Amino acid sequence: MSALTSTALPTLTDELKRKMESREARIGIVGMGYVVLPLALLFSNERFRVTGFDIAPDKVEKLNAGGSYIVRILPESIREAQKAGFRATADYSEVAAMDAIVICVPTPLNEYHEPDLSYVTGTVESIAPFLREGQLVVLESTTYPGTTEEIVVPALERGNKAGLKVSRQREEAGIHVAFSPEREDPGNDTVARHDIPKVVGGCGPVALEVASAMYGSIFRRVIPVSSPSVAEMTKLLENIYRCVNIALVNELKQLCMRMGIDIHEVIDAARTKPFGFQPFYPGPGLGGHCIPIDPFYLSWKAKQFDFRTRFIELAGEVNTAMPYFVLDQIAAGLNEHSKSIKGSKILVLGLAYKRDIDDLRESPSLTILELLRERGAQVSYNDPYFPSVGRGRHYDLNMTNTPLEDLGNFDAVVIVTDHTSYDYAAIVDQSQLIIDTRNATKGIQNAKILHC
Ligand SMILES: NC(=O)c1ccc[n+]([C@@H]2O[C@H](COP(=O)([O-])OP(=O)(O)OC[C@H]3O[C@@H](n4cnc5c(N)ncnc54)[C@H](O)[C@@H]3O)[C@@H](O)[C@H]2O)c1
Repeated sequence: MSALTSTALPTLTDELKRKMESREARIGIVGMGYVVLPLALLFSNERFRVTGFDIAPDKVEKLNAGGSYIVRILPESIREAQKAGFRATADYSEVAAMDAIVICVPTPLNEYHEPDLSYVTGTVESIAPFLREGQLVVLESTTYPGTTEEIVVPALERGNKAGLKVSRQREEAGIHVAFSPEREDPGNDTVARHDIPKVVGGCGPVALEVASAMYGSIFRRVIPVSSPSVAEMTKLLENIYRCVNIALVNELKQLCMRMGIDIHEVIDAARTKPFGFQPFYPGPGLGGHCIPIDPFYLSWKAKQFDFRTRFIELAGEVNTAMPYFVLDQIAAGLNEHSKSIKGSKILVLGLAYKRDIDDLRESPSLTILELLRERGAQVSYNDPYFPSVGRGRHYDLNMTNTPLEDLGNFDAVVIVTDHTSYDYAAIVDQSQLIIDTRNATKGIQNAKILHC
């Protein structure tokens, strides 16, 4: 018998666990985005009947037609899941038919750089009326410690038509609530999704047991922790660790450049140490929905405890300054050719915030394009993943993809995202000046390349 198994569970809970283990449980997944659509497919692959909930009608329609809107998810995978019963809906009344509901909706920052939990509260308020006794609700969105207990639980209890409470004790009836962070790294194929251990914290022992049973049927390893807050904080620690280390290496890169030392050579040498060092790589700044945002969820919460998270603030400062540093390097490179940014034709290679993905949220490319345009450059971009780019929360570009040809016509080509589909040797060969922010041209010796 495992440490998580009890001999005296209420019948409904026994039944729910049995359904999880036998894959009879119906799983509802809310927010069919970058990270949980793959999770929905993982449940489907394991023969669970999955219903995907999303408020975006175009996504629901596309999924039900057997299509995909995420490049790395092939339509065939959606059609395969459909054979196992997968379908999408925008109708929350279907929540009543689920055994478990997993929520993974966006958690951005608002215009004041504070947590915007409106997607989470909106979702919880939408599902609450339809919840019935014995169901499991798990939040997976990244957020500050305390969100599940302070925001999700009260909203579920307030909104439930039947007046159900969240169950805390073993014999207590009600809804089971847990938090389990989403640790997916889109575009990273080195670790299979089911091999990423699943951290789970429950509001009470039964919530932890059923959530662990559910995740244990698709993930190889479940890591139970003592509370939802521990699970919430675990995810933030992971992302803050990355954010701070990237800032450190971005700062050291700037120093190394002044000292005439190649930071990449330094990192390659340092990573040979078999313990106590993990390599991080410098770049043009941070992007994506996680690393530039999540640390500030904690900074905000820390203020409630009269605490200043100085590492997070400093790392944020260094990382957000990187696109400006790149701009200075472009100016310096053009200067060597007796040119200025104003009036120069500049091509930015790569819009996505990282290699080989179709996600441009918070991408430093967007800032670099805007800065170049403000300085009077004639800017263009190329990215195989984005035929066009319009307007977003922090940018207004309205541009279309420029084909990778006649590179010699550009005064400078700036590599911001190192997609693997690019032929860097040919790009260097055809260009007048290359500004490489990713070390994508490693190994190519050519005086046209300015590494930064
Ligand atoms: N993208 C990543 O790399 C990553 C990795 C780990 C964790 N996360 C976390 O996962 C969460 C989701 O991120 P994402 O990148 O998948 O977001 P996303 O924007 O790709 O997807 C979110 C989906 O939720 C839907 N949605 C919004 N409000 C809804 C509502 N009330 N009801 C139903 N659907 C709703 C949207 O239409 C969208 O399809 C965030 O908290 C993020 O921090 C993201």
